[in-house]
Amino acid sequence: MQVGLAVLLLAPIAALRGADSRSSGDGETPALIKPAISIGSGLLLQPVLDLSRFTTEEFATISATVGPEKIRRKWTSPVLALPPHPRSAVHGLTETEVEAYMLQVRRLFDEGAAVPISDVGLISTQEDVIRRPMFNHVAAFSNAVARVYLLVQKTASDKGWGYFSIVQDLTTEPPLDYFAQISGAKVTFEGTSCYKCHSSGPLAIHPVRADLVSDAPLAAAISKHIADQPLSRFHFPAGDPPPDYGKPLALRFCSKCHDTDGDRLPLFKVHSHPIRVLVDFGYMPPRRRLTPEEVAELKAWLDQKP
Ligand code: HEC
Ligand code: HEC
Repeated sequence: MQVGLAVLLLAPIAALRGADSRSSGDGETPALIKPAISIGSGLLLQPVLDLSRFTTEEFATISATVGPEKIRRKWTSPVLALPPHPRSAVHGLTETEVEAYMLQVRRLFDEGAAVPISDVGLISTQEDVIRRPMFNHVAAFSNAVARVYLLVQKTASDKGWGYFSIVQDLTTEPPLDYFAQISGAKVTFEGTSCYKCHSSGPLAIHPVRADLVSDAPLAAAISKHIADQPLSRFHFPAGDPPPDYGKPLALRFCSKCHDTDGDRLPLFKVHSHPIRVLVDFGYMPPRRRLTPEEVAELKAWLDQKP
C-alpha cells in the first residue's frame, strides 16, 4: 500500500527530470525521502494544510525567480567541496572565520556554482505562523574543518529571497553549530529563533509533497549527509543565551535516541512545533509508528504548560 502510493506520488518527478539524467555519483544511492502523509495522530494544532490547488508548475516558476541558472543544476556530488581552511591546526573557528564561510557559500550560490535542492518544506509550511508554501533552496558544502549549509527561502508573496546559513565547526569536540541570517555582506548570528526547530543542528529535508521537489535523488543525498552528521552542540551567540527550557522530553520511545549521548540531542518544550509535525507525518520515530498509548503520552507532555 505505502509503496504503491509512494511510486504514484513520485511519478511526476521522474517526468520533470525527463532526459536530464542525474546520478548521485559514487557510492550507493540513498532511498528517496518518504512522502509526507499525516498519520492523523491528533498532535497537530491546526488541520493539515490543503495545498492541492498548488501546482508543480507554480512551484517551478516561483522557485526560479531566484535565478534559473542557480538551481536545478547537474551534479556528481551532493556536497560541494570548499577549498582547504587557510589556517592550519585549527582548534575552534573564530566568529570571523564562520562568517567568512557563510559569505563564501552565499557567493557560490549567487554565482551558480552550488548544487541546491529546491522544495516546499513541510515543517515551515505546515503549522507555525506561515501556513503557506515556503520555498526553499538548500545547498551543502564542506571541507576538513567545516560542514556549511545555505538556505535561500521565501513565501510566494515575499519580494526578495532571505539567506540563512549554518556552519558546523568540526574542529571542536563536540562540533559546534553556528546559525545566522545573511543580509548583503552582514552576518547576524541567532539563537533561540533557530534552536526551536534546529535542536540538533541541520535538519533533514522534508518536502511537503513529492512533486514539490526539484530533484528527488539530490534531496535524498543531502538529507543523508545531514542525517549522518556528527552529534554537535548549538552555539548561542553572546547576546542571545539559551533560556531555561525546563526538563527534557523523557519518554523512552523518543529519549532512547534524543539524549545527551544519543543520535540526537534531548528535546524540550521549545521544540514542540517540529515534534508535532515530524511525529504526525510519520517521520519520528524513524522506523516505526507510535502506538495510540504512546501518542497519548506524548500529547499529554506537549499539552503541559512549560
Ligand atoms: C519553523 C522551523 C524552523 C525554524 C524556526 C528555522 N528553521 Fe531552518 N530549516 C527548517 C527546516 C524544516 C529545514 C529543511 C527544509 C527543507 O525541507 O527543505 C531547514 C533548513 C535550514 C537550512 C538548510 C540546512 C538544513 O538544515 O537542512 C539552513 C541553513 C537553515 N535552516 C537555517 C536556519 C536559521 C539560521 C534559522 C534561524 C534564523 C532557522 N533555520 C530557523 C526549519 C526551521
Ligand atoms: C531510532 C532513533 C530515534 C528515535 C526513537 C526518535 N528519533 Fe527523532 N531523530 C532521530 C534522528 C537520527 C534525527 C535526525 C535525522 C532526521 O531528521 O531524519 C531525528 C530528528 C528529530 C527531530 C528534528 C530535530 C532534531 O533534533 O534533529 C525531532 C523534532 C525529533 N526527531 C523528534 C522525535 C520524537 C518526538 C521522537 C519520539 C516520538 C523521536 N524523535 C524518536 C532519531 C530518533
